[in-house]
Amino acid sequence: MSEPEITDLTEAEARAELKRLANVLARANEDYHGKDAPQISDAEYDALKRRNAKIESRFPALKRSDSPSDQVGAKPSETFSKITHAVAMLSLGNAFSDEDVEDFLQRNRKYLGLSDQDPIPVTAEPKIDGLSLSLRYVGGQLEHAATRGDGTTGENVTANARTIDDIPQSLTNAPELLEVRGEVYMSHADFAALNERQAASAGKLFANPRNAAAGSLRQLDAGITRSRPLRFFAYAWGALSEPLADTQSGAIARLSALGFQTNPLTKLCEDAAQLIAHYRDIEARRATLGYDIDGVVYKVDSLALQERLGFRSTTPRWAIAHKFPAELAWTRLEAIDIQVGRTGALSPVARLTPVTVGGVVVSNATLHNEDYIAGQDSKGQTIREGKDIRPGDWVQVYRAGDVIPKISDVDLARRPSGTSPYSFPHRCPQCDSEALREEGDAVRRCTGGLICPAQAVEKLKHFVSRGAFDIEGLGAKQVEQFYTDEWIREPADIFRLRENYESGIRQLRNREGWGDKSAANLFDAIDDKRTIPLARLLFSLGIRHVGEAASNLIAFHYGTWDALIAAVTAAKDLSGPEWDDLNAVDGIGSVMAGSLVTAFSQPAERASVDRLVEQLTVLPAERPAADDSPVAGLTVVFTGTLERMTRAEAKARAEKLGAKVAGSVSAKTDILIAGPGAGSKAKKAADLGVRTVDEQEWLDLIGSA
Ligand code: IVH
Repeated sequence: MSEPEITDLTEAEARAELKRLANVLARANEDYHGKDAPQISDAEYDALKRRNAKIESRFPALKRSDSPSDQVGAKPSETFSKITHAVAMLSLGNAFSDEDVEDFLQRNRKYLGLSDQDPIPVTAEPKIDGLSLSLRYVGGQLEHAATRGDGTTGENVTANARTIDDIPQSLTNAPELLEVRGEVYMSHADFAALNERQAASAGKLFANPRNAAAGSLRQLDAGITRSRPLRFFAYAWGALSEPLADTQSGAIARLSALGFQTNPLTKLCEDAAQLIAHYRDIEARRATLGYDIDGVVYKVDSLALQERLGFRSTTPRWAIAHKFPAELAWTRLEAIDIQVGRTGALSPVARLTPVTVGGVVVSNATLHNEDYIAGQDSKGQTIREGKDIRPGDWVQVYRAGDVIPKISDVDLARRPSGTSPYSFPHRCPQCDSEALREEGDAVRRCTGGLICPAQAVEKLKHFVSRGAFDIEGLGAKQVEQFYTDEWIREPADIFRLRENYESGIRQLRNREGWGDKSAANLFDAIDDKRTIPLARLLFSLGIRHVGEAASNLIAFHYGTWDALIAAVTAAKDLSGPEWDDLNAVDGIGSVMAGSLVTAFSQPAERASVDRLVEQLTVLPAERPAADDSPVAGLTVVFTGTLERMTRAEAKARAEKLGAKVAGSVSAKTDILIAGPGAGSKAKKAADLGVRTVDEQEWLDLIGSA
């Protein structure tokens, strides 16, 4: 499975990808914050978030109302009482390179109206890999302790926090109200000892110190927390009755004087070079610190400047986390396997001698496509300095962005002699049909269509998957089995299973795990899906480029199966009024339209679809209720400051009413909602004659006070 380049994504693909990323990231948040059991590494998580942000910046109009970019952490667990933070607990933006650090400073100078040369003193300190905690002291007494939760509301873990030695119960000479924020963590030595004790008592083993710290702090029985050696570094604050100091470094010194542990590697730097030097120094000491860190945090030192710089939706402008790079390892490439996907794409997969990368054993990596193996990107530019990849090579594997590991380098010095460049197959390894590469496509595809078993099985798996027919008891495993046994060769066969079974072909019952009862259950589940909405049916067919969102658009456009099939059949020459009409559907580009038309014009595939539809009742597509709203179908843009609601809220509301929210003004814009401070967008709207309203007029229009 290769990750498409963002620049290659169509709008529909981008929408589907944003949806996927929102799901994956929501699950990752829940695993990390809710269950203390992350399934992906931090580097992977960061890269998924970056990919999401990149797609959003390329397709601003597609940004989701539940965009991961607008979220911090996960909802608090149900087992602790809740505490609403007086001041939200935010997250940090990330820097991954020296240039990103330079950009951070430059951005801030620009924001503050300073010249390129003006110094901005910035502190640098280790980013502790634990979990953040907010401690509220009133009159010098610890009143409560709360986890970050979703940033607004956290869990009340006061009793547990009181068991931690580094957390003072009372303070002298402290402001009347003081919220101290910092990181709870566990040292390497304490982590190892804890896991030994856990093993001896057959208890749960923790994957790493951070999970151990989180699991130990979030105990309903504070007695257990007491038995776990947790520590706390203070590095920030929330609500205050009086300022702690004028500077970040001064405030940290004050927290230290009040009795908190603050990190000894915190340093005040004058410029990017000093920050980066300190980053390298901390990186070099990383292994000997005795606790986990995953980067270095930079914070503008002047609190007056912090105040002016303020926040983006979930991160401060005045701070950034400079992350340590993804983890790398060298291993041997044993073989290159070719997998064939649903649309016939031949995807090369690297089979590796297993190697541990960042704590995870890796034995497969994606090789994307034939150009990638040859040392080129999709635009014909060289990658890896043009070094190609051959079986037998020593390759560098990295796990960063994508969940699937990648190969970043080849050691030519260790290349076995007598090898030649990998020759990518020009025939499908599954069905021996010709595999062709269309102009401008990085991917070579099997032309076997339905006769290719790999394509047929992948199509069937897609057909029964969650967003498609979603048949209970018929998953990927069962589909493979039924295909091998020749029970199901095409989707229509699924709906003939009962008939075939009842007419005496009783093979199911004799098969392991299947009796009359389980067979009957399966047939009932299949019958439940005989009535299917048009959009779902279309998506289920697994037509290239036609994802869930496109299926919805097409279904709404044509309304019924008969209308759709008649129009698409009439458009078979990719010309004529039906073709023009299909291309005019908002959100459907010519590539998608072409793919749809081609899919239905191949006689064998069309016959297979007809056989399927005979078995079904296809529900016409109902227009969403939002169509009644005065702004349904309009493209709107928000600019300037909104005073009655946040940008995210305004956007979510507009989308709920059926409007499309775009990031920039164009001739397609119907309404610009301009708040105070609106600049170039308002001017452009005026130039283009786009209707411009203020926030109040917009609220009047959508009928909310
Ligand atoms: S400052 C407004 N400093 O990193 C920003 N955070 O990725 C306040 N973290 O939620 C955070 N070490 O849990 C800050 N030295 C440090 C940190 C640190 C670890 C964590 C913290 C935060 C997360 C953001």
